[in-house]
Amino acid sequence: MESRADDKPSQAPDFNGLRVVAFESRMAAETAALIRRFGGNPTIAPAMREVPLEDNQAALDFALRLLDGRVDVSIFLTGVGVRELFRVMETRYEQARLVAALARTTTVARGPKPAAALRELAIEPAVTIAEPNTWREILATLGDRIELAGKRVAVQEYGVTNRDLLAGLEARGAEVLAVPVYRWTLPVDRAPLIAALRAIAAGAADLAIFTSSNQVINVMQVAEAEGIGAEFRSGLARMVVASIGPVCSHQLRTHAIAIDLEPEHFRLGHLIKEAAARAAQILAVKRVSSARIEVAAAPRPREAMRRDATAASNSPLHHHPMLKACRREPVPYTPVWLMRQAGRYMPEYRRVRERHSFLEMCQRPELAAEVTVTAVERLGVDAAIIFADILLPLVPMGVGLRYEGGDGPVIERPLRSLADVEKIPPITAADSLGFVGDAIRLVRGALADRTPLIGFAGAPFTLASYLVEGGGSRQYQATKTLMYNDPAAWHRMMEMIARVTADYLNLQVDAGADIIQLFDSWVGSLGPDDYRRFVLPHTRSVIAAVRPSVPVIHFGTITGNLLELMREAGGDVIGLDWRVDLAQAWARLGYDVGVQGNLDPVALFAEPAEIRRRARAILDQAGGRPGHIFNLGHGILPETPVDHVIALVDAVHEMSRR
Ligand code: CP3
Repeated sequence: MESRADDKPSQAPDFNGLRVVAFESRMAAETAALIRRFGGNPTIAPAMREVPLEDNQAALDFALRLLDGRVDVSIFLTGVGVRELFRVMETRYEQARLVAALARTTTVARGPKPAAALRELAIEPAVTIAEPNTWREILATLGDRIELAGKRVAVQEYGVTNRDLLAGLEARGAEVLAVPVYRWTLPVDRAPLIAALRAIAAGAADLAIFTSSNQVINVMQVAEAEGIGAEFRSGLARMVVASIGPVCSHQLRTHAIAIDLEPEHFRLGHLIKEAAARAAQILAVKRVSSARIEVAAAPRPREAMRRDATAASNSPLHHHPMLKACRREPVPYTPVWLMRQAGRYMPEYRRVRERHSFLEMCQRPELAAEVTVTAVERLGVDAAIIFADILLPLVPMGVGLRYEGGDGPVIERPLRSLADVEKIPPITAADSLGFVGDAIRLVRGALADRTPLIGFAGAPFTLASYLVEGGGSRQYQATKTLMYNDPAAWHRMMEMIARVTADYLNLQVDAGADIIQLFDSWVGSLGPDDYRRFVLPHTRSVIAAVRPSVPVIHFGTITGNLLELMREAGGDVIGLDWRVDLAQAWARLGYDVGVQGNLDPVALFAEPAEIRRRARAILDQAGGRPGHIFNLGHGILPETPVDHVIALVDAVHEMSRR
């Protein structure tokens, strides 16, 4: 693509022939004229169409069910949606009958706007959800106030379907009826839109203008349907993205699209004029920094590349203490998160788990996203970790993974020979683990720019130990026997695992994970010579393959004898368990790497005063040095009291504040 890096920054609004794509529908002609007037080369790709009232079949079906008395609870999510729903229903039925029927159901308003819209119809909502009224508050409030099991619950939607809310209601035993009310939908002729999205994906455009949040939703839906979602997003990352205002920008960020320009006044005219004034300069900066990363990629060490890539990022999360700590920059307080923070110790988790198997929770993105986000909000931690499991890549390997109640995971057909390894089919993460990417996108949307999200995978040795032993192990007898007797089979298996793992981790990064943690939970069973020979090269190849834009945390337990070697294998941060003294371990590793840890998970059973004392000791060992992330030395245990966990998080924040 042609470089414009030498264009002079200019204040006079002039696109100077830049290729501008706008998705505006109603004002399409005006938009094209304005872009041309400021010297741009416009492509208008309408992304929306107004829907005639009588085409809202779901809303009319709802009216019928309501009049027949086949709705028990009706949930209204937006004020505009309530009014639009009635506009549609009243094309066929009398308002008074609809209102009377609705009043016989339990009406729920998400916040003051739908409540006001209901009152206009003289309906006093039975329940109004208090701010911030996200789907989690809706579920929590309803759970406290109304029995949902066996109830027919209608949910008025406007714009996007809230899959988390619907899944949460279903998980609580409700029969859910979604009532989507559309004012806008996709255009009938999508060819111009598809052509524009392909041009952006191919790098054949300089500026994209988004003028409404529904437009963003439609554009992304079409890009995904065309199978070019990732290419389209990376095309946008190399051009200038202009947004009409905060609601539209929020929707863009939900799709992990960074915004370069928002006008001072949220009007189309202002947007185009400001874009004309600033686009060339923004573009020059963006192209220079992305060119630098690409040029640097080949010869330079991954650590330096990663620093450049993250420094070039303009996401607000870039300055979050968790990400700063990963880069060993000074932070206002020590960031803290906890391994297994979404797990059985938490009643919210157990409630969802009662209705779904563990594997189902992992494989249904809306459930995985719900428990991920609930843990963050309940605990106030500085990072989310996607709810998943290190053994998920074993499912497409076809070895018969099962999670047995209480006994941990079981692999029905363990690998014991080269022939076994060669029977594993070729696996791509996109084909078999895409649900984790979907869950990450949902979490990213729910957390917006508040909290970074950690993606993860098992390291090759730990996964190999499950594959060979057929489950958890004490002595790793079968694993080591294969390693010692048939090194060729061993290395073949480790290479296969490393390849799948790297692909899987990058799928998570592409979906929006900000940090990657590699769990080598059981590697501490090896001596240093075996680690160097049988493990290090494979772990190193996984870490080296992770896209340089995200930091990597490399964790293991009982690794006091292996820390230097783990460091050699890679990682921006090394995870420590409680069996080592953090100060001594960090001194051994060197201060040019970060450390994470390392409270004993069992310490959380002690009284809060003792927890505090132990947390302080760890903070003291870290000595306020940049690059410490507070965590446990291993995952939270199932019987841990939730209030002790919260007390720990609060204590770390309070005692480390600088
Ligand atoms: O940290 C988080 O909150 C994210 C979720 C997460 C889980 N497993 C959920 C889970 C993470 C990061 C993991 C990693 C994992 N899984 C590791 C490495 C970390 C470690 O603990 O060393 C390992 C070795 C596994 C394999 C695994 N999965 C085991 C041994 C078990 C059974 C242990 C147990 O607690 O029953 C699982 C199941 C599992 N993974 C559960 C959870 C919440 C419990 C499932 C249930 O509800 O029954």
